[in-house]
Amino acid sequence: MNSITNSHSTIPAQFQRVVSGMRPTGNLHLGHYHGVLKNWVHLQREYECFFFVADWHALTTHYEDPAVIEKSVWEMVIDWLAAGVNPSSARIFIQSQVPEHAELHTLLSMMTPLSWLERVPTYKDQQEKLKERDLSTYGFLGYPLLQSADILAYRAAHVPVGEDQVAHVELTREVARRFNHLYGKEPGFEEKAEQAAKKMGKKNAKLYSRLRKSFQEAGDHEALETARALLESQQNITMGDRERLFGYLEGGGKIILPEPQALLTKASKMPGLDGQKMSKSYGNTISLREEPEQVEKKIRTMPTDTNRVRKTDPGDPAKCPVWQLHQIYTDESQRETLAEGCRTAGIGCLDCKQPVIEGMLKELTPMRERAQKFTEDPTLVRNIIEEGRELAREEAIRTMVEVRQAMGLVYT
Ligand code: TRP
Ligand code: SF4
Repeated sequence: MNSITNSHSTIPAQFQRVVSGMRPTGNLHLGHYHGVLKNWVHLQREYECFFFVADWHALTTHYEDPAVIEKSVWEMVIDWLAAGVNPSSARIFIQSQVPEHAELHTLLSMMTPLSWLERVPTYKDQQEKLKERDLSTYGFLGYPLLQSADILAYRAAHVPVGEDQVAHVELTREVARRFNHLYGKEPGFEEKAEQAAKKMGKKNAKLYSRLRKSFQEAGDHEALETARALLESQQNITMGDRERLFGYLEGGGKIILPEPQALLTKASKMPGLDGQKMSKSYGNTISLREEPEQVEKKIRTMPTDTNRVRKTDPGDPAKCPVWQLHQIYTDESQRETLAEGCRTAGIGCLDCKQPVIEGMLKELTPMRERAQKFTEDPTLVRNIIEEGRELAREEAIRTMVEVRQAMGLVYT
């Protein structure tokens, strides 16, 4: 068990923060919906969510053609809104409009060993993969640290990411731990913590002290949990005191930047039109705002089991890309009937594709409708982003006040 876990474990979900970003590098398709956005839509109901357009991250790879980014930013926000991300539950904003991300990135860069960044697996992998781009830049090496700043600026508890990004959250945890270790020990920390304990009242202070002792001297984790719950339930202590008490409890300094957890999103099973994973680079996508006629055409022309040349040839669903789409759009009983029809040549492929077309349209139609409102009136989107930015900034500023203070950057 990790004794320096973050202090979020006892906070009710609706107060825990979730932060996630997406790079604006093209329009979104059903792969993004099933892989990421559907999850965001769920998360926004339970947590306090911050979702942002990671335009600086996009620049690390697209610095030579930033026009793509500029074009994609607004379209991507519309796609999010179309998919059901709700600006009255989640804060939606653009990374570069919250300069605190950059400030935190700079400050974190002072104390992050170069080797930590060099050994993040995506660094070498992406350089290999994107050979046509020169990624031997300072910014690209710092990509995961900028991501750490994105997350830590909001003191997020959870970061929904795919498998490939887990190493970035891990780095974030290490950076936070190092930061707290280096800067969490303010002068007179112990006295301040003792003072803070007294502010909880005599009885609670005594309880805190007893629980702290049991944890530190006897490794009693139950005592640790109880003490954390006690701290969470305190209404009348300042945030600074709370952080001191959390840190003091575990024998460290003040926890200024709590360590986030990766919330692993299962890899999207969304197959593309050719049976491979849906991805822009394979040209096998259906976009979130695809016209219905286009959806229909794309499915109707999808390849099927190559053994079914004629309608009278029996087929095998296991060898058919359409079948994978049935896993998403068709219920089990209907699937059984269709599989039987395929194996016995009782149905044609176009008949079999019809329920997929219908299922997909049912999913996409409300998205197209929602998107229309925003494409017709771009100021709606501008306003949502403006409001999101303000709310996000407020939180990021709060964090930066503490970070600057901890690092000795407040000159009075
Ligand atoms: N690197 C992420 C990706 O490529 C995008 C991202 C940037 C992000 N900042 C973030 C994700 C902060 C989660 C939290 O998908
Ligand atoms: Fe694929 Fe359906 Fe045709 Fe069988 S009948 S090959 S599952 S499209």
